[in-house]
Amino acid sequence: MAELQNDNGREAWASRIGLILAMAGNAVGLGNFLRFPVQAAQNGGGAFMIPYFIALLLLGIPLMWVEWAIGRHAGIFGYGSAAGGFGTLVKSRRGAKIANYLGALGIAIPITFAIWYAYIESWTLAYSVFSVTGEYFGIIDFDSMRNFLQSFQGVQGGGHFSGITDQVFVFPYAALIFFLITISLNVWILSRGVAQGIERLAKIAMPTLFIFALILVVRAWTIGTPDPAKPENSFVNGLGYLWNPNFSQIANANAWLAAAGQIFFTLSIGTGSILTYASYLKQKDDIALTGLTTSITNEFAEVIFGGSLAIPIAVAFFGLAQTQEISQAAFDLPFAAMPMIFQKLPLGQLLGMMWFVLLFFAGITSSVALCSPAMAFLQEQMKMSRQKAAMIIGLILLCCGMPLILFFGHGFLNEMNFWSGTFGLVIFALIEVILFAWVFGMEGAWQEINAGADIRIPKIFKFIIQFVAPVYLIVLLLFWGIQQGIPTLLMTGQNPVDIPYLWGARLMMAGLAVAGIWLVARAYKRGTIR
Ligand code: ALA
Repeated sequence: MAELQNDNGREAWASRIGLILAMAGNAVGLGNFLRFPVQAAQNGGGAFMIPYFIALLLLGIPLMWVEWAIGRHAGIFGYGSAAGGFGTLVKSRRGAKIANYLGALGIAIPITFAIWYAYIESWTLAYSVFSVTGEYFGIIDFDSMRNFLQSFQGVQGGGHFSGITDQVFVFPYAALIFFLITISLNVWILSRGVAQGIERLAKIAMPTLFIFALILVVRAWTIGTPDPAKPENSFVNGLGYLWNPNFSQIANANAWLAAAGQIFFTLSIGTGSILTYASYLKQKDDIALTGLTTSITNEFAEVIFGGSLAIPIAVAFFGLAQTQEISQAAFDLPFAAMPMIFQKLPLGQLLGMMWFVLLFFAGITSSVALCSPAMAFLQEQMKMSRQKAAMIIGLILLCCGMPLILFFGHGFLNEMNFWSGTFGLVIFALIEVILFAWVFGMEGAWQEINAGADIRIPKIFKFIIQFVAPVYLIVLLLFWGIQQGIPTLLMTGQNPVDIPYLWGARLMMAGLAVAGIWLVARAYKRGTIR
C-alpha cells in the first residue's frame, strides 16, 4: 500500500478523525482510570477539582496548544521530536544547538516513561486473560487476592504463580511473558507506521474503550447497595467520598502540586509525544480545535468514566474505611479489589474482561505514543528503517524493563514513575513554553497556534501562555523544591534496603538521558540536524 505522505515527504495521518482518535489515545490512558481517582480521593475529593480545573485551564489546555504548535512547526522542517524540533524555534545557530540538546530530554523522558508504563499495561493484558479463563475466580478474600497479585508481580515468595510456598525469591515468569507480548504488540504497531499502525490502532481501541467504559459505568450506577445490612456501603456514598469537597486541603500546596501533576500526566503534556504526533500534520491543518477536542475528550474519560468506576464501586462493596486503606497501595484497587468485586456480580468474567481490556487499550494507545519521539528520531535523524527503529525500541523496553520486573518490590517502578512521569514532565513543559513564547517570540507563537485554526482562541490565552503558564510552573517547582526537594533527592524515609535499587533506577534513567544526548551529537555529525 502506498504510504501517506506530507508535503515534505514525511509520514502523515490518513484522516482527521483518525488523528483525533490517535491524539485522544495518546492522552487517555491508565492515568485516567487508575491515577486520577486515587489522586482525587487523597487530595480533598471534590475540593481537588478546584486546583485540578485551574491547572487544566492555565496549564493543560494552553500547553496542549503549545505542544501541537511546536510539533507542526518542527514537522514542516522535517523533525519529529524536540531533538531537532526545538532548534527550529531559535534563530542563532548556537542557540539552536543548545535547544536541540535540551530536546534530547524529549526522547529520553518519554522512553523512560514507556518502560514502566508498558509493564503496568502488560498486567492489564494478563488480567484480561485471567478474567476470561477465570484464573482468579474462586479467590474470595481480599488478602488472598492481593497475594495473587503479589505472586504475579514476584514480590512475594510462593503463591499462585510459583506452586512453591517456601521460596523467598520468585521469578515472575507469568509477568515476564505478558511483558514480552505487550512489547511485541507495541513494536508491531510502531513498525507499521503512523497511519497504518498508530491510527488504525486508535480507530479500533478508542471506540471499544468508550463502549466498555460506558457499559461498566452504567453497571456501576445500578449497583446500589450490594449488602442491604450495610446501607452505608453504596455506590452513591462512594461518589460522595470521591466528590464531596474537603476544603481543608485547598490551602495545602501538595493538593496543587498533585493537581498539576495529574493534568500533565493525563494529557501527556511535557512527554514530547503530543509534539511528535503533531509533527505529522500539514502546514495548514487546524490545531486549535483538534487540540482542544483532545483535551476535552480526555477530561470526559477521566472525570466521568475514571471518576465513576474503581473508587465508588469499591466503596459499595468494601465500605469507605477499607476502600481508603486499599487505595493507599496504588495497584490494589484495580488489580485486587476489582477482581474480587467481579466475582460477586452476574456475568463477572465478562465485566472483568471489559475492565482490563479497557485498561489495556487505554495503556497501549499511550505507550506507542510515548515511544514515538524516539521512533521518529531513529527513523529520520539516524536514517533507520521503521522496522529496525521499532526493534531497537522494543529492545530498550525489554532490557530496561528487566530490572524493573526483578526489583519491583524495592520501589524501582515508583522511582521511575516519579522522575519520568511527574518531575520530568514539568521540566520539559517549562523548557517548551519558554522556548516557544520567549525565544521564538509570542507574536510568532500566537500566529503559529492560530494558523489554519477552525476556532477563534480567546486572546486571553496569549497572555496565559506567555506569562501565567511559565510562572505557574516555576512556582510549582519552587514549592516542590522547598517542601520535598531535598528529602526526595536524598531518599529520606526510604527503607535502607531499597536505597541501592533506587540508585540503580536513577543510574539507568541517567543513562537513558546520556544516550539521548549522544544521539543528538551523532545526528549533528551526520548532518541530519541542521
Ligand atoms: N496520558 C497518559 C495517561 O493518562 C500517559 O495514562
